[in-house]
Amino acid sequence: MKKKALYAGSFDPITCGHLDIIKRTSKMYDEVVVGVITNPNKNALFDVKERTDMIACTTRNLDNIKIVSFSGLLAKYVNDNHFDVVIRGLRVTTDFEYEIQMAQMNSRLYNKDIETVFLMTQPKYSFISSSMIKEVVMLGGEVKGLVPDEICELTKSKFNIK
Ligand code: COA
Repeated sequence: MKKKALYAGSFDPITCGHLDIIKRTSKMYDEVVVGVITNPNKNALFDVKERTDMIACTTRNLDNIKIVSFSGLLAKYVNDNHFDVVIRGLRVTTDFEYEIQMAQMNSRLYNKDIETVFLMTQPKYSFISSSMIKEVVMLGGEVKGLVPDEICELTKSKFNIK
């Protein structure tokens, strides 16, 4: 039976750390859906269309990736769309506490056995977050190698940086 995985996040913007998780997940499952979520607790720099387009551009060489956007409960989206697993990346130990709470709450809300699968982020990306990327770019710092080149340019242009 084909296995379908969801990797959701706000991806504002997608980083090399996210991309690494997507590539590794694409080797593990038949279909990987990258879900762009509007997180009401965050002020996004890029709108949802820009974020989905950026993910599509950076994953164009992977043929089992689909990009969607949705809002509301992740568990509802998982139930409605018959996923088998939900993927999360773990960067540092502090991620673990938040992740276990979220995974356990979600598992109460799933209507069948759905596993949350945690992939360890590569050490070279373990300190990255989308917010940190935006802050460094905004202040004129270099983020080459931490975000795909085209994303670096798009982020710079949002801050009118050449
Ligand atoms: N490499 C680089 N950066 C990474 C990373 C990786 N492998 N994994 C995570 N990050 C970064 C993200 O960019 C993000 O940075 P930011 O806070 O600066 O934007 C940060 O780490 C946190 O990532 P994450 O926990 O995935 O947050 P998110 O906003 O991207 O996604 C949701 C969180 C969308 C999955 C979660 O809020 C959700 O499920 N929302 C739906 C509502 C819901 O169901 N709520 C009930 C949950 S029980």
